[in-house]
Amino acid sequence: MEFNISQSVRREDVPDKIAGIAKYIGDYKFKDMLYARTLRSTEARAIIKNIVFPKLPDGYCIVDKGDVPGRNRVKIIDYDMPFFADGVVNYIGEPIALVVGKDKRVIESILSQIRVEYQRIEPILSVEDGLNAEKPIFGDNNCFSDYTISKGDMVSAKRRAKFVYEGEYETGYQEQFYLEPQGMIGVYEEGKVSIYGSIQCPYYVKNAVEECLGFEPYRVRIVQTTTGGGFGGKEDYPSLIGGQVACAALKTKKPVCLIFERNEDIEVTTKRHPSKIRLKSYIDENYRVLGMEGDIVLDAGAYSGLSSVVLQRAMFASAGVYNIENLVVRGRAVATNKVVSGAFRGFGAPQAFFAIEMHMEHIARELGIDPFEFKLSNILRQGDRSTTGGLYRDRILLPEMVNRVIKMSSLEEKKKAFKEKRKIGKLNGIGLSMFFHGGGFTGSGERDHIKGRVRLVKDDKGYVEILVSNVEMGQGAGTTLRKIAAKTLEVPLSKIIFNNPDTDRVPDSGPTVASRTTVIVGKLVQEASEKLKERWSEDRVEVEVQYKYPEGFYWDNDRFEGDAYTSYSWGVNAVEVEVDPTTCEVKINGVWAVFDIGSAIDERIVKGQIDGGIVQGLGYASIEVMEDRSGKIMQRKSTDYTIPTSMDVPEIKSELMCEPYGGGPFGAKALGELTLVGAAPAYALAIEDALGVKINKIPVRPEHLMEVVQNGK
Ligand code: MTE
Ligand code: MOS
Repeated sequence: MEFNISQSVRREDVPDKIAGIAKYIGDYKFKDMLYARTLRSTEARAIIKNIVFPKLPDGYCIVDKGDVPGRNRVKIIDYDMPFFADGVVNYIGEPIALVVGKDKRVIESILSQIRVEYQRIEPILSVEDGLNAEKPIFGDNNCFSDYTISKGDMVSAKRRAKFVYEGEYETGYQEQFYLEPQGMIGVYEEGKVSIYGSIQCPYYVKNAVEECLGFEPYRVRIVQTTTGGGFGGKEDYPSLIGGQVACAALKTKKPVCLIFERNEDIEVTTKRHPSKIRLKSYIDENYRVLGMEGDIVLDAGAYSGLSSVVLQRAMFASAGVYNIENLVVRGRAVATNKVVSGAFRGFGAPQAFFAIEMHMEHIARELGIDPFEFKLSNILRQGDRSTTGGLYRDRILLPEMVNRVIKMSSLEEKKKAFKEKRKIGKLNGIGLSMFFHGGGFTGSGERDHIKGRVRLVKDDKGYVEILVSNVEMGQGAGTTLRKIAAKTLEVPLSKIIFNNPDTDRVPDSGPTVASRTTVIVGKLVQEASEKLKERWSEDRVEVEVQYKYPEGFYWDNDRFEGDAYTSYSWGVNAVEVEVDPTTCEVKINGVWAVFDIGSAIDERIVKGQIDGGIVQGLGYASIEVMEDRSGKIMQRKSTDYTIPTSMDVPEIKSELMCEPYGGGPFGAKALGELTLVGAAPAYALAIEDALGVKINKIPVRPEHLMEVVQNGK
């Protein structure tokens, strides 16, 4: 069948979701299923001296560290996080044990009667304290990671500089707030454990559960159930609770269901790393940024989790879309006695792009020059080198994209009109951001760790099933992958089958993270389809392909040198705001965006990702406040932690421009995370434009704005 790959089709996951038929983890019922609730630490840092359990009724049990037959450490990147606390606790909410049984009310009652005796240790509650810790939580310097990247010659850049500007930028927590809270069910049958759950990475859970139980791979099976959003929050956390329900199922020999309450989910699961980023730029008389020194500090929380790779992405993005030839950037992921920070759409890039976009604007303002001209004169071009010395091989369309956004938003006319209006007390402003996102794993991840495999199976009726471990979680992956196969095989879309992955059936094509599904896995689906096409006349065919690192690229993981990514997607966002001069409340009046994601595999899916990503990014910049007091998250309910709704954001006007990537399917590049990355700086810059102040911190709250306005900065 001939169809244009970009033309939208009906998404296959949507009808069941709309009709309420789709089966989420909460809809699964197994015979004799038991429920579990988690006993959690109420202390930020303590030694557990003793735990006093009440007498348990028949059919109820406790599952804790003593019930972990294998290694009581969750395999994420390192092994530092225990499935169940082992003598010490390091954050409020850390799991100590599960209470398991038939009736949820009885479980609650047991939970409330358990007494944990703690010996408190002085907790580390800020990154500043973490960097000067006398009793580190981790290692000698209390950093899970401490990296430096450098390129060029900073000494000469400093010598040649005529102007130096330094600024510090701060970003807060962000909670993924997926529609469906975390949940998993563990089932034990004839020596084998099966885990069903709401997850992004079936094989991550599988590896973690194998080590937790000390089981051979064939004795652990992971089945993804319809997943109501992940946004990075179901990248690592499911490995922890997967191991817990596995232990519980093994102990009770019954299915055990652990589903979080919303409040519990907000309080104890991973979030976006709060950051403090200091940038110091050296500029010459022609307003070229000759060099930059950067210092990035991420609040990693109590365990390392994914912090090392989040930090790398932040560091490699620290120069933003600018060609800064001389650079030294240090990055540290600091251990604190707080909830574990993890993956969230953008993975370190939203923090870095907020910092560099504000920084560049502030430099221009200090120099008294036009920010657009300043930014565009320093902008990356094809053939330039990245922060790690990698080559930007493809054309970079940013100047055209900026022009387009300026036109779409009538930016110039508006800026003029706003100046006039300001005289009568109306405070409007418009801000513009530029950014990129590297597709797939950072550095050698795809090459050395993931080595994704994709299998296609054709039956004698001409149906082709895509066997991959990647998941549909609302981002349209199922439909996108089917379209790639159908188009390559030249068969109707209805002939291509995509099911939720079950590790007994699918090979490990890697996790559904790093916006890799279309660009990396989609390419493998395309390659497998080409192979399958050659053998189409056979009755039943199975083909499998594996990821090959593209020729001509280079990455040295010890020195962080080379091509951190094999492809880049680009974005330009403009946001218009109106600020109430009395209350400092901010209303968003317009949002415009242009993205280069190569070719769009499905325009409506792309539009969905654009709108969703931008709204999430605007929430990050404005109303999504999350703070802790003495290590306890203060916003623990959906009424305290609010995310934007359609009422808070006007229609988002977006367009695509296309520089295709030869290594992606039909020229497609990464999309999923890119769309969140630029919204926060565009929003903050719009407020700066309206008020003439400098903003160095998100979320921008009216009370902070008032302070900034009163300080007259
Ligand atoms: N979109 C929806 N609707 N739901 C999600 O959970 N996750 C985001 C993004 N878009 C997400 C989403 C994140 S964090 C990533 S990494 C990508 O989708 C992953 O999917 P992709 O590889 O298909 O882009
Ligand atoms: Mo996305 S944060 O890489 O799951």
